[in-house]
Parts: sequence; C-alpha cells; structure tokens
Amino acid sequence: MILLTGGLGYLGSHMAAQIIEQGHEVVLVDNLSNSQFAVLDRLSKLTGRVIPFVQIDVRDKAGLQQVFSQYPITQVVHFAGSKSVNESIQQPLDYYDNNVNGLISLLYVMKEAQVKTIVFSSTAAIYGEPEALPIPESSRQAPITPYGRSKQICEQVLQDLAHAEKGWKIAVLRYFNPAGAHPSGIIGEVPNGIPNNLVPYIAQVARDERPFLQVFGSDYNTVDGTGVRDFIHVQDLIDGHSKALAWLATQPQVFDTFNLGRGEGVSVKQMLDAFSKAVGREIPYKVVARRDGDSASVYADASHANALLGWQATRTVDQMAVDTWRFYENLV
Ligand code: WQD
Repeated sequence: MILLTGGLGYLGSHMAAQIIEQGHEVVLVDNLSNSQFAVLDRLSKLTGRVIPFVQIDVRDKAGLQQVFSQYPITQVVHFAGSKSVNESIQQPLDYYDNNVNGLISLLYVMKEAQVKTIVFSSTAAIYGEPEALPIPESSRQAPITPYGRSKQICEQVLQDLAHAEKGWKIAVLRYFNPAGAHPSGIIGEVPNGIPNNLVPYIAQVARDERPFLQVFGSDYNTVDGTGVRDFIHVQDLIDGHSKALAWLATQPQVFDTFNLGRGEGVSVKQMLDAFSKAVGREIPYKVVARRDGDSASVYADASHANALLGWQATRTVDQMAVDTWRFYENLV
C-alpha cells in the first residue's frame, strides 16, 4: 500500500488517481492547509472507489504512527509541504517547520515502521539563478528563497540518512513548473486564496474571477521579453513518480535525484496564447514590474530521468491549457 502525504493537494490527488487506476492500494493524509476535503469526493467519483483518508499534519508523529499501524504501508510519496516562493519570504519559520520538520517527523515514523521507500517532492527552485541552460541535476545549487532552501535542506537530510542506514530507497524529484489537470476535468489545481502561480491565475482571469493577469516584466532577455519556464503537465509529472516507485523497487538501496521537466522553455506570453486558444477568447493582461526573485529563463535537462527511469514528458503546452480550462470551466 502506498501512502501519499499531501494526498488531497494538486499533485497528491492526481497521483492517487493514477495509483488506483494502476490497481494499487493507496492511503492519503493531508492537513487541508492548502487543499479541500471536497477533493476526496471528486477522487471517489473519478475512480469509483472509497479512498482511505486521514486528516493529520505530518509533524504529528503520533498521528502518523497511528496511520502506519492501521494500514500496511510499503512505500511513501511525500507531497505534503508549503510551496509558494514569495510566501516563503514572508513566513520563513513556517516554511522550515512545515517542510523540514515535516519530513524529519515522517522519516522517524517510517524508520520505526521499517518502511524505507520514499519519493520526495523537491523543486527546481533549489537551483536559484541557473548557471547554464538546460539545467542538469549536477548544476550549482543557489536557492534564493526560504522555500528553495527548505527543500535543499530536506534533500541533504535524505542523502545523509541514505548514507547512514542501509536499506533506504530514496528518489528525489525536482519539479519544474507543474500545470494542467486530469483529462476528466474532475480534479485539478485549486489553490487556497490568490494564486501565486501563473496558470491557476490565468484560469481565474478566464473565469472572470480576476480582471486581468499581471505579467511580471516584459524586458527579460527572452524570446518575447516575458519570463520563460519549463511547464510540465501534471500527468507527465505523476508518470514520473510512478516510474520512480517502480525503479526503487528494483534497487536494494539507493539515493538519486531527477529533474522532472519537459526540457523546453515556454514564455508567459506563449502560455497566455495557449490559454486564449483553449478558452476561445483573449485573456486580458497588463505588464507590470518584474517580481522579486524571478529568473529570466529556467528549463530542465531531464535526460537523467529518461535514462534511468525510462521517463519522458509527452504532453504539450496546449494540452495543459485545454485540460486546465476543462477543469476550471466546470468548477463550482
Ligand atoms: C512562472 C512565470 C512569473 C504569476 C514555480 C513554483 C515553485 C517551483 C518552481 C515547484 C514567471 C510569471 C506568474 C503571475 C506572472 N515549482 N507570472 N504573473 O516562479 O517559476 O515557481 O516553479 O516546486 O514552487 O512556484 O512559477 O507560476 O509563479 O511563475 O507573470 O501572476 O510566470 O514572473 O516568469 P515560478 P510561477
């Protein structure tokens, strides 16, 4: 049985759907700080299954111990964590507590339960300003926000644990820019509050929930002056997690790190154009000042995941826009 922490979140819920579609058993935990309980019903509607869910915070060791004693967990995918780059600048303590202490609490309980397989959600934010493009896993790590630094510390904790104790099977996945939604339109990304990320913000403008998109700068040295990112469809990202779990099962013990990106840079303006096509009308936007902490261009060298996991992103930016819009236009 696979435990998904953050299981009602954007990535967690999409992973839950895929694991069930693959015929595996799953149990979800989530503290609902950036997700909604309603997602559980949507998942049941999508999969036709009642899915075990426990509302706890991963820092609650006793609660986690209870889950491990109640369910025959053999592998863990750790999605739970705080992930807003600019929020982390305002609330560093919360980010280090949630992301670092949350992981340590989980690892202690896993160790006690003799469960030593974990896939960990990390981030391209760990690289900071890229020293070269595309970015390989060996690239210099110079995170510039508490969010990126908290994930860097988590990776170090995992690497040191793998070095200290035999039997750990650990895959660290560094996400670039997740976007899109399950093709059914039943689950997708529903951030609490004002979205920090580009794609959910565009979707809310398309729903007339926001007047226009603020484009943070159009004077970058990029194809059209707007920021360039490696947007990757959430379904491709989830495929990468499934491949990582399958690969870990073939290893006696291992620690490795993988970039999960498409390996192609797409600009804010190009994403806007893809959405206008998907929605069937222009998305209003205004160019404003650059946002602190933003790089001009970020995109992945994902060849390591391809070589070792046999994984390759296949879905396009247009599909990300179409799938996101299908979810949002039905969202009540
Ligand atoms: C993308 C581009 C903005 C909002 C994300 C995640 C982070 C990590 C890395 C997973 C930039 C521009 C955005 C808006 C805009 N992923 N933008 N107007 O900053 O690349 O970081 O990917 O761990 O967790 O946050 O993503 O979507 O915020 O920005 O113009 O209202 O869109 O300037 O060029 P970012 P983002």
